[in-house]
Amino acid sequence: MVSNMTDDNSSTKPWGGRFTESTDAFVEAFTASIDFDQRLYRHDIAGSIAHASMLAHTGIITTEECSAIVAGLQGIQADIEQGNFEWSVALEDIHMNIEARLIERIGETGKKLHTGRSRNDQVATDLRLYLRDEIDGLCSALKRLQTALVEIAAREADTIMPGFTHLQVAMPVSFGHHMLAWEAMLERDHQRLLDCRKRVNIMPLGAAALAGTSFPIDRAYSASLLDFDGPAGNSLDAVSDRDFVIEFCAAAALIMMHLSRFSEELVLWSSAQFDFIELPDRFCTGSSIMPQKKNPDVPELVRGKSGRVTGHLLSLLMLMKSQPLAYNKDNQEDKEPLFDTVDTLKGSLRVFGDMMPTVEIKHANMAAAAKQGFSTATDLADYLVRKGIAFRDAHELVGRAVRHGVETGKDLSVMTLQELQAFSAVIDTDVFAVLTLEGSMSARDHTGGTAPAQVRAAAAAARERLKSR
Ligand code: ARG
Repeated sequence: MVSNMTDDNSSTKPWGGRFTESTDAFVEAFTASIDFDQRLYRHDIAGSIAHASMLAHTGIITTEECSAIVAGLQGIQADIEQGNFEWSVALEDIHMNIEARLIERIGETGKKLHTGRSRNDQVATDLRLYLRDEIDGLCSALKRLQTALVEIAAREADTIMPGFTHLQVAMPVSFGHHMLAWEAMLERDHQRLLDCRKRVNIMPLGAAALAGTSFPIDRAYSASLLDFDGPAGNSLDAVSDRDFVIEFCAAAALIMMHLSRFSEELVLWSSAQFDFIELPDRFCTGSSIMPQKKNPDVPELVRGKSGRVTGHLLSLLMLMKSQPLAYNKDNQEDKEPLFDTVDTLKGSLRVFGDMMPTVEIKHANMAAAAKQGFSTATDLADYLVRKGIAFRDAHELVGRAVRHGVETGKDLSVMTLQELQAFSAVIDTDVFAVLTLEGSMSARDHTGGTAPAQVRAAAAAARERLKSR
């Protein structure tokens, strides 16, 4: 709950000293961030404990003072977690809410915590600690979904489905191969998050408002307490840039873009026209008017949510664009898009991780669909090449055979030998092995190909990769 305090600035605002009138009530609410930045309380407190410990380590405050501050902050954290903390809009943000409460709890000593620090380096530190945690959680969520896909792939290596280009039947592929394509996208997403984490894990503390501080601080010490890779090298940059947030949101937008592609396929596949899969009822909803409907809401919603994550990326780029050095209040606007990006991504990965292992695969329907659309035409062309015909000529001959098939309603595999020989005399009875879906799929037997043996090997390698992370 957030309360409004109406006291005079000089008594309530940590910065009240310079002011002669209190803040306009609407301006106070308008400029406050406590409604959303309270989510940073754990990281704010962790940052403050590290800062206080560093101040004691360097003799800027005493060990007793440090102990009182740390105990006070831990008590505040417990209060927050038990719901015994009343957030105040008059105290603007998470930093001032916690500091004011600290002073209330432990008295004068609490006023020393902010020595050699500013909210500018504090908020940038909080945000980096928060994002580092969230990246770690998201990597686990990705791993869970990737694992589910790899297990489906291993199980369904022999399952035949039509592979598409232009959403037209192209060649038969293994359903497992298709699942591993999704997994490969998610693995790159994982790599992107890990790479982003390196640039997130740099400590702004010590930059203070913008120029550093006149106190003999030890930034390496606080960085090591907070598990940062090290302190930021330039104080102006440390307090002002939010490129790490933007970079994360770009990685997030790519993940959501991938999930939107998976979603689109699940929606298509569960339609009566495709009928390749069945989503369990618990991931679907019905229609309030049409009794027969079972709608694939989960993938549809994830597909929709990808739009808002891309929107957050754009709003953050626009937020940062043209900001002069160093900190500007504009940056308070970084949090809501970031938080919503994290929440949306977390939810989407979770629901996909829950849903994918439960998807029912309709093997016969997939195989029947793969038989349509002359999906083995390329195999016939390759066969002719192996019999000594140049590929371009083979392409032309098979094109004529396909036209004949369209006119007579026959797939290549059901034409007689004589019918096929009308297109090329080199065709013999061994052609029929090539024209089966199994033959076509198994022939693509090289790294990255769709042959079931390759799919099994790729699934095993992916399983090992996931295990070791
Ligand atoms: N609530 C602020 C933010 O989110 C904290 C930093 C405020 N700094 C300042 N100089 N007003 O960016």
